[in-house]
Order: sequence, then C-alpha cells, then structure tokens
Amino acid sequence: MSNRTFTMIKPDATSKGDTGAILDQIIKAGFSIKALKWIKLTKEQAGEFYAIHKERAFYGELVEFMSSGPIIAAILEKENAVADFRKLIGATNPALAEEGTIRKKFAASIGENAVHGSDSDENAMIEGDFFFSKLERF
Ligand code: RTP
Ligand code: MG
Repeated sequence: MSNRTFTMIKPDATSKGDTGAILDQIIKAGFSIKALKWIKLTKEQAGEFYAIHKERAFYGELVEFMSSGPIIAAILEKENAVADFRKLIGATNPALAEEGTIRKKFAASIGENAVHGSDSDENAMIEGDFFFSKLERF
C-alpha cells in the first residue's frame, strides 16, 4: 500500500477563495504536502489528464471546466493516503457527500466539485508524475 496520493483544488474552489480553507482541512487531517503548485491548465493539458474519461458524456464539460481557471496540484503523504483522502473529500456528487467532507462544504455540483483525489495507488503515481518533476517533490 502506498502512502501517497495526488490532489487538485479545482477552478470552482480557487475562484471562490476557498483554496486556503481546503488546504487547511487537508493538513489538519494529517496529510503532509510533498509537492505543490498553482497553475492554469490549457484545454489540451486538462484533456490529457482526464483522458481516461474520454468516452464519457461529461468529458467535454470536464475539460472546459478544468481549464477555466487556476488550480492547485499537490502530492500528499499519509498512511493509507488514497483511501483516507477519498474519505476526506466525500462523494463525487456533493449532494451525496457526508457532512464535514470537503465536497459537502465547498462543492456546488457533481461537475464542479472543488477537489480531485486519486482513485488508486497506481493512478496517484501517474498523476503526480504528470505535474511534478523530481526536482519539485521530496
Ligand atoms: P475526481 O477524479 O475528480 O477525484 O472525481 P471522482 O473520482 O470522484 O469522479 P470521476 O468519476 O473520476 O469523475 C471525474 C470528474 O468528472 C466530473 N464529473 N462530472 N456531470 C457529471 O455527471 C460528472 N460526473 C463526473 C467531476 O468533476 C468528477 O470529479
Ligand atoms: Mg476520479
């Protein structure tokens, strides 16, 4: 089991000024930041990152949204990081997310849902490598 996951704070949250509050909740939940950057993805970059969802009906909307404003990308470390982080962020649809989760508190809809969290150790590694060089992480 890996002790790392990858996250993004999505454009809806950065534009509402929730970046600091979300990072604070992540850190207070016991995750330590091993890499972090504030960037704006192009449509091409967002499309490449979410290529696994290419055939889904929401792909075009997702790519538009993820390239619509700045994001935070980060690598996080904690024991059982992938599963614990998914628990911290809550269900994809914020209406179904548990009370106190990041999506329940900060997300408005299933499409604009404030944060990304890797769904497996393998994807956590692939996603971290997409954003960070060796020099940018420790
Ligand atoms: P994420 O990858 O962002 O952590 O979200 P997730 O695992 O909970 O959900 P996933 O199925 O991987 O979907 C990726 C992102 O696509 C958008 N989405 N929109 N309109 C829709 O029905 C719909 N479904 C998914 C969301 O932004 C979701 O987080
Ligand atoms: Mg996912």
